[in-house]
Amino acid sequence: MDTRPIGVFDSGLGGLTALRELSRLLPGEDIIYFGDTGRVPYGGRSRETLIRYARQDVAFLRTFDLKGIVVACGTVSTTALDVLTAENDIPIWGVVEPASDAAVQATRNGKIGLIGTQASIRSGAYERRIASLRPDAQVFAAACPLFVPLVENGRFRPGDLVAETVAAEYLQPLKADGIDTLMLGCTHYPLLKRVIGGVMGPDVTLVDVGEQCARRVAGTLRERGSLTGPGRTGRCRFFVSDSVEGFSGLASIFLQRDVTEDVEKVDIWNY
Ligand code: DGL
Repeated sequence: MDTRPIGVFDSGLGGLTALRELSRLLPGEDIIYFGDTGRVPYGGRSRETLIRYARQDVAFLRTFDLKGIVVACGTVSTTALDVLTAENDIPIWGVVEPASDAAVQATRNGKIGLIGTQASIRSGAYERRIASLRPDAQVFAAACPLFVPLVENGRFRPGDLVAETVAAEYLQPLKADGIDTLMLGCTHYPLLKRVIGGVMGPDVTLVDVGEQCARRVAGTLRERGSLTGPGRTGRCRFFVSDSVEGFSGLASIFLQRDVTEDVEKVDIWNY
């Protein structure tokens, strides 16, 4: 039994999609969430900058005594996971492996689409994992830099003309490639699932990378006997690097529940 909380971080609100699944699977666990809302989006930044930011995010989370950290960010998972893992003596879980494994399981024709931030697509990390599991699989990748700002501004619902126009432009080429599985390689994208599904049609399986990561983490902790005891209700604490104003409202949409917990502001440059 391990009663320490689990740390979770992302550049902003997107990682809450992983947190939602984690709390659903492990309702007894305490979770500390950090969203780097003052520096979002990460997706267009260089590897050097991403490593610097990710180190600070982890350093803040490690002011708590944690059982492990979930990198609920495709961009950091694809670009800095090796560095974070090497520098920390607690488990650091990223989204690439569990999500690629799920995509390989899901595809029938071996044509897997991948969408993510520019940094994630540039890294080639998902392709490497997929090739190691199924060398004949083809990956069709597209960077979708406008998706994160759309989501962070609440513009993700079907019928939103801007979201639908942007999605059609990004996704039509992947549809034309004949993919049967599409990896939503950024934890912000599940909010756009209905818009994305509307373009891709019902025959394309959407793989949510944050959800897959949460499942892997839950399974690993259970296997290792590292969960809190039974009959407990876990608590979430939220930290952000920009104003706390408006966070609870948007976070409630991401988590599909009322966020009533306090949200605290962190000066991330101090870490
Ligand atoms: N949610 C993040 C990801 O999964 C970050 C996106 C961004 O900040 O650009 O990649």
